[in-house]
Amino acid sequence: MTQTLTILGLESSCDDTAVGVVRQTGGELPEILASVVYGQAELHSAYGGIVPEIAARAHAEKLDLCVVEALRDAALTLGDIDAIAVTAGPGLIGGVLSGVMCAKGISAATGLPLIGVNHLAGHALTPRLTDAIAYPYLMLLVSGGHCQFLQVNGPDAFTRLGGTIDDAPGEAFDKSARLLGLTQPGGPAIENEARQGDPKRFRFPRPLLDRDDCNLSFSGLKTALLRQRDQIIAVKGGLTQKDRADICAGFQQAVVDVLSKKTQRGIRIYLRDNPAVPSFAVAGGVAANTAIRRGLETVCAENGVAFHAPPLALCTDNGAMIAYAGLELFKAGHRDGLDLMARPRWPLDKTSPAILGSGKKGAKA
Ligand code: KG4
Ligand code: ZN
Repeated sequence: MTQTLTILGLESSCDDTAVGVVRQTGGELPEILASVVYGQAELHSAYGGIVPEIAARAHAEKLDLCVVEALRDAALTLGDIDAIAVTAGPGLIGGVLSGVMCAKGISAATGLPLIGVNHLAGHALTPRLTDAIAYPYLMLLVSGGHCQFLQVNGPDAFTRLGGTIDDAPGEAFDKSARLLGLTQPGGPAIENEARQGDPKRFRFPRPLLDRDDCNLSFSGLKTALLRQRDQIIAVKGGLTQKDRADICAGFQQAVVDVLSKKTQRGIRIYLRDNPAVPSFAVAGGVAANTAIRRGLETVCAENGVAFHAPPLALCTDNGAMIAYAGLELFKAGHRDGLDLMARPRWPLDKTSPAILGSGKKGAKA
C-alpha cells in the first residue's frame, strides 16, 4: 500500500518564526501544503543585530499562532498530521528552546511522534524537496552563520569537505552593510547597491585561493571594506552614493569569485569519489543572491555538473524545509522522546574535525 505522510515542521532557531506542512505520497514529489514565516527584522532593527532575548520571546509568542495559521492554510487539523518535526539546533538557544517546547507540547497533547531536526539538514535537504535530486550530491550551504561544502549521502549522513575558517558570507554581508550605514539584513541591501556599482573600481582580497582545498575565509573582506570606506572619508569627508555602490559591487564580486573558485575545488574533490553522479546544490540565505547563483551556475556548467538552487523563499529560513527533513527522518525510523534537547551547536558531520574558528560567532545557521 502506498503510504502518505504529512509532517508539521517548526523553525525558530534565529529571527524567523516559521511553520510548514509537507506531504508526500509514496515516492512522489513532496508537496508543500503550507509555509508560514514571520520575520522579526523590525523588532531588532534598532539594535543593529539580533537580540537573542527579544528573538526568543517573539518566537514563544508567535509559534502557536503560526501552527494554527499553517494548518488553516493547508486545510488540515492536527488529526491529519503524522509527526511533528522541530529545529532542535544549531541556533540561538532561547529560540530553539521555544520551538522545541512548543513541539513537545503538541506531541504530549496529541500523542504524535516528535522528531528533532538539525536546522542545517533542513537547508541541505531542500533541493530534494524542490527538485527531488537523488543522493549523493554536493552541497554548498551559505547563510548568516554557516558556510560549508557537504557531501549529502542521506537525511542523517553528511560528509564535510570544507568550510569557512572564520565568518560566514552572510555575516560578512551583514557587518559590511552596517559599516556602510545600510539596512539589515545586509545581503539584499548590498546586492541592491551593487547593481549600480562598478565592481572593478575597488579591489577586495580573495583569501585562501592559493590553498588547494575548499576552506574559505571572509573576515578579511569586511576589514578591507572598512579600510576602503575610511580612506574615502579621509579624502572627501564622506561617501557619495556612487562610492557606496562601487564598494558594494567590489565586495560582492570578491564573494562571488571566492565562492565560485572554491566550488570548483569542491566539485573536483566530490567527483573523485562520485564520478557517476555529478549534482550540485546551493542553499541558505546567501543563495538568494543573484550574482552568487549565476557564478555557481557557470562553474557547474563548465564542469558538467547539474546545478540546483531552491526558489528564494526556500533558501532562507522556513518551516517547510524542517517538515521535509522530518519527513525523511521519519521514513528512516527516527523518533525523539519528550527528553529531546535543544542544542546551540550541532555539527552535521560528526566525524570531521571542527575547523578552527568556524561558526564561533554564528548565531544564525
Ligand atoms: O539562511 P538564512 O535565512 O538565515 C540563517 O543564517 O540561518 O540566511 C540569512 C543570511 C543573512 O546574513 C542575509 O544577509 C543573507 O542571508 N542574505 C543575502 C541575501 N539575502 C539574504 N546575502 C547576500 N545576498 C542576498 N540577496
Ligand atoms: Zn538558516
